[in-house]
Amino acid sequence: MASRSYQNPPVSPSSIARDRLSSISSHIMGSSNPSVFTTSTVAAAPEDPLFGLMKAYREDPSDKKVDLGIGAYRDNNAKPWVLPVVKKADDAIHNDPNLNHEYLSIGGLPDLTAAAQKLIVGADSPAIQDKRICTLQTISGTGAVHLGGLFLSKFHPQKPTIYLSNPTWANHNQIFTNVGLKIASYPYFSAKTKGLDFDGMLQALRAAPSGSVILLHACAHNPTGVDPTQEQWREIATVMRERSHFPFFDTAYQGFASGDLVRDAWAIRYFIEQGFELCVAQSFAKNFGLYGERTGAFHFVSAPGAEGAVANKHIASQLAILQRSEISNPPAYGARIASRILNDPALFAQWEEDLRTMSGRILEMRAGLRERLESRGTPGTWDHITSQIGMFSFTGLTETQVKILRDKWHVYMTKNGRISMAGLNTHNIDYFAEAVDSVVRETS
Ligand code: LMR
Repeated sequence: MASRSYQNPPVSPSSIARDRLSSISSHIMGSSNPSVFTTSTVAAAPEDPLFGLMKAYREDPSDKKVDLGIGAYRDNNAKPWVLPVVKKADDAIHNDPNLNHEYLSIGGLPDLTAAAQKLIVGADSPAIQDKRICTLQTISGTGAVHLGGLFLSKFHPQKPTIYLSNPTWANHNQIFTNVGLKIASYPYFSAKTKGLDFDGMLQALRAAPSGSVILLHACAHNPTGVDPTQEQWREIATVMRERSHFPFFDTAYQGFASGDLVRDAWAIRYFIEQGFELCVAQSFAKNFGLYGERTGAFHFVSAPGAEGAVANKHIASQLAILQRSEISNPPAYGARIASRILNDPALFAQWEEDLRTMSGRILEMRAGLRERLESRGTPGTWDHITSQIGMFSFTGLTETQVKILRDKWHVYMTKNGRISMAGLNTHNIDYFAEAVDSVVRETS
């Protein structure tokens, strides 16, 4: 009996009360542990329109579907194209017995950043001669735009507004907003002429507060495919100098617009010759077809003058701190490929050939589409398909028409009527022309 009572001691009323209290309190604590990130503090964000479109296209089982969404080059069989020169460089890297997977430096692969600089500003640039340009390798063009935006937001003494073209690459808006810059827009595309609204643009640049930051697409404007002529660039530079604006160039399509790397860099080189302090976000996604490898560069060109080189050193040091705190150091794989090609004359020449293959096929598709729409007598004018350049065409199709094209014809393009010309090929161009013709007639 004694041992039984030892094993099962009588339960006192006070210990029952204690247990009950502790269970109630842990229950209360558990259920009332307040959540900070509730549905009211974190609203559901809409899906990214471009990546949403890509997903919808992939999930569409139709064998007729046409992908004219994201700006990525496709060959004539609608397949991603590994540039032959990239394949060659890639093979050489894999066979290199000294290859390792060590970190790059904070600023990236020096052979790449030096070559990227020459590629965009020219080897004989006054900025290079005066040592007033610094370059950091970035997570493609997006990373470069972000790094530049972050730098301006942190170091520009006036916290200026950044003016974006209307329309622009949708991501510009969120990148600059996320780093705390105020954004505004300047007119760019004329719906009437389907070309540049040059007067509107100049007027807005004149009206913008002195010292504003102006985002300029160096060539092959995304999404419109409409670029200023060299004469117009000169006038833009004049107005920007009068108003002391700061040019922020975004160049994601060098070599795609004209097929000529030097010509596509003309505007940036001109602004540097004119003595502007400026920055450049450079992407190697499209012109090397290194989309997923996230290869790019950010360049800061200081103003000419006694302080230029030293100021540039300071800027480079601060950019390195920003880079270190965000990505530590950039990825090596794509950088090694691009660097090998840029630094080897034979590979470089082959790259130029590959660029001509891509831009040439796009030009053929432009001519083919225009010709098909005009010979069908599709209502409207279609000459802008061939006057616009680069990866995209801003067709002028309305949001309603775009929706019908998707629902009825399985054609995928952005709501603003932009098509990636590289998505067209000799197998689907007739079908696409037929679809556009039908939808335009149905809705006019
Ligand atoms: C595009 O506009 O389609 C490309 O620049 C891809 C992207 O990242 O938005």
